[in-house]
Amino acid sequence: MLRLMIVITAATGHLGRHVVTALLAKVPPAQLAIAVRDPAKAQDLAAQGIAVRHADYEQPQTLRAAFAGADKVLLISGNDLGGGRARQHKAAVGAALEAGVRHLVYTSILGADRARMGLAVDHLATEQAITAAGIPATILRNGWYLENYTENLGAALAHGVILGAAGTGKVAAAARRDYAEAAAAVLTTDGHVGKTYELAGDAAFTMAELAAAVAEQAGKPVAYQDMPEAAYRDALVGFGLPAPLAAMLADSDTGITRGELASSSTDLRTLIGRPTTTLRAAIAAALAK
Ligand SMILES: NC(=O)c1ccc[n+]([C@@H]2O[C@H](COP(=O)([O-])OP(=O)(O)OC[C@H]3O[C@@H](n4cnc5c(N)ncnc54)[C@H](OP(=O)(O)O)[C@@H]3O)[C@@H](O)[C@H]2O)c1
Repeated sequence: MLRLMIVITAATGHLGRHVVTALLAKVPPAQLAIAVRDPAKAQDLAAQGIAVRHADYEQPQTLRAAFAGADKVLLISGNDLGGGRARQHKAAVGAALEAGVRHLVYTSILGADRARMGLAVDHLATEQAITAAGIPATILRNGWYLENYTENLGAALAHGVILGAAGTGKVAAAARRDYAEAAAAVLTTDGHVGKTYELAGDAAFTMAELAAAVAEQAGKPVAYQDMPEAAYRDALVGFGLPAPLAAMLADSDTGITRGELASSSTDLRTLIGRPTTTLRAAIAAALAK
């Protein structure tokens, strides 16, 4: 392949680190640069020969400098749910345009143009900003991470219950590593400009099925307890989550009841060339930690 310079934002986050790992299996480190808010968190990546650039979504001038010389940029969505995220992403799109980036890849949300859940709003606004900018682009509409459900199984196992407001809605989740490999494939192979991929796990599951799988694999009773959205939000606040995050998570569960995180798309398995990580495997990995 050509010796392109690929810049990855938010590379010190969970997904970003998986993307860097997946890219290192395909291209030499000299072709990679990461654009991160806190370069001190990326010393291990610098030690592997990856250029580390400072880039804060809140400081457009840092984005312009970080994208200089980039052929391709992977813009990983930020996690500021307080209302500034669409503005931050638009600044990044503007910086990519000014830097002459030839291919911008953005991590959006599954069904961004159909979902009514609040989380989709910033993603759709970002997709529209990319279209308006006219930069050759690929949209990766990522579904839910399996890790959203498997990273904190301790409380579920301790109390024997998984709480939620998702009803009998299904979630076609996949592992962060799956989405990261898809991003790496799009960044290192041809034919993806102008495409929007709906990325989801091969098998969707309900929260009751999640609880049953956890119970079976852990050998302990775990049941799903469904509750109204407001009660779930209040419960999350009671567990110590910030109110805006609790509201967003509860709202997302209501979106799940409408089927907004279910999908029959095979885009993800096609891009990564293998089946997506199963719920069973994700639970087993979490229990083994
Ligand atoms: N599909 C899903 O289930 C799901 C779940 C959660 C989140 N998401 C979305 O997917 C993204 C990636 O997921 P993740 O698991 O990697 O999340 P994560 O671990 O929370 O990483 C978020 C990344 O965004 C960076 N960031 C936040 N604000 C920034 C700013 N102002 N300037 C530059 N960078 C900034 C963070 O930088 P630092 O490393 O310096 O903190 C971090 O690297 C999230 O940010 C969110 O938009 C998706």
